[in-house]
Amino acid sequence: MDDTIETRIPPTCPEPIAQILHRAWDHDLAGLKALLSQSGRASVQEPTTGETPLHAAIRACAGQGEGESESSAKPVVQELFLSGAIWNDVDGNGETPGCVAARLGLRALYAQCVDAGARAEMLFGLLDEYEELESQDGGEEEEEEEGAGQDAAGEEANGAGEPMDEDIEVVVDNTRAFVPPRPAGADDPDVKSEAYLRSELTYSDGKLVDSSLNGVMMAWETSIMRASVAALLPDLAPGRRILNIGFGMGIIDGMFAETRPSRHHVIEAHPAVLDHINNAPECKFGKAWEASGPSKGAYKVHAGKWQEVMPKLLEKGETYDAIYFDTFGEDYGQLRMFFTEYVPGLLEDNGIFSFFNGLGADRQVCYDVYAKVVEMHLSDAGMDVDWQVLDVDMKGLEEEGKGEWQGVKRRYWTLDKYRLPVCTLMG
Ligand SMILES: C[S@@+](CC[C@H](N)C(=O)[O-])C[C@H]1O[C@@H](n2cnc3c(N)ncnc32)[C@H](O)[C@@H]1O
Repeated sequence: MDDTIETRIPPTCPEPIAQILHRAWDHDLAGLKALLSQSGRASVQEPTTGETPLHAAIRACAGQGEGESESSAKPVVQELFLSGAIWNDVDGNGETPGCVAARLGLRALYAQCVDAGARAEMLFGLLDEYEELESQDGGEEEEEEEGAGQDAAGEEANGAGEPMDEDIEVVVDNTRAFVPPRPAGADDPDVKSEAYLRSELTYSDGKLVDSSLNGVMMAWETSIMRASVAALLPDLAPGRRILNIGFGMGIIDGMFAETRPSRHHVIEAHPAVLDHINNAPECKFGKAWEASGPSKGAYKVHAGKWQEVMPKLLEKGETYDAIYFDTFGEDYGQLRMFFTEYVPGLLEDNGIFSFFNGLGADRQVCYDVYAKVVEMHLSDAGMDVDWQVLDVDMKGLEEEGKGEWQGVKRRYWTLDKYRLPVCTLMG
């Protein structure tokens, strides 16, 4: 990677942009401040390299490690964020400022990027909620007026009115999450819940894929499932009441079943998965399994979306010692709704809730930002979270289209550490 100033801010760079980038690069705080008075300045981009002032301030520390240079960059980075710089803008190398900081080993600057990212994502979440409320409440006229105000707020949050589609997209899918550094205009539609639930699925070679070859579940995740079971059921004690959302390949349900629970409920929505459960000879969760429970209804696959099944379980007064959530094709808002609206009512006082944590998992900085976001939202929902950090064996997972990813459209996991959330009710 060429991190030199000559390459990143070439002589062809338009003068007003070059001035800002040079001051950021030189960590000239006073000079930079003077140029940031106009909206949008903190997030200008060099037209050919995509360098932003954040990239420049961080990259200037290349080769110097943590120390004096990093210290002089800190107030500059802080000032840029205060002036609306965008934490997840990517440069021509596909790197966000946080990615550059991580690659150069600049931990303090990386932490600043993660904090700023979490703040921005929390704010966007609030704006989305506000928008939802508005569309529920308001008449057309009111909506239009308020919408205009909101755009202004959105611009401020985003940093100086740059169009959002210049950022990478953060966390589309709450489980096998994508954070694709997609080129603008790429015709690669996101997997969305309704489309997914209508799509055809294929079970083969240690994986479950949909008709567009998106990996719904893959056998390499078995070690993550095993660790999740161990976290949810300390000592793997028998006789626990378990609820699992999303059957997939039945990997985690197989492990749950081995512990001889007193109650084992599964919620699954996809017709092809339900067909697999009921008819595939190798699947042991069909009717015979249901009938083998210690009492009627103790072992059960609830067919349907959790959004429809959960209210019924709540109404019936069901409670569980362990709840696991791992769906596909749903956005983060659904996971948040699940743990905010349902987990507190269905989890026993000493129970444990966990979920497949693929939030932002194809980019370290997004993974770290979303760990913070989800932690704050869990706390909002009355839950504490402990993170267990697991090593992920990356053999066969290193390259798009190769090894485990052969026949799978997108490499949705790129990290060698998995953060396993262990959530408990507060107090
Ligand atoms: C990633 S897989 C689960 C993998 C599972 N943990 C395992 O160990 O094999 C996700 C599953 O969630 C199901 N699913 C997706 N959306 C759902 C919803 N809204 N309600 C219930 N199940 C859903 C999918 O059909 C799929 O079977």
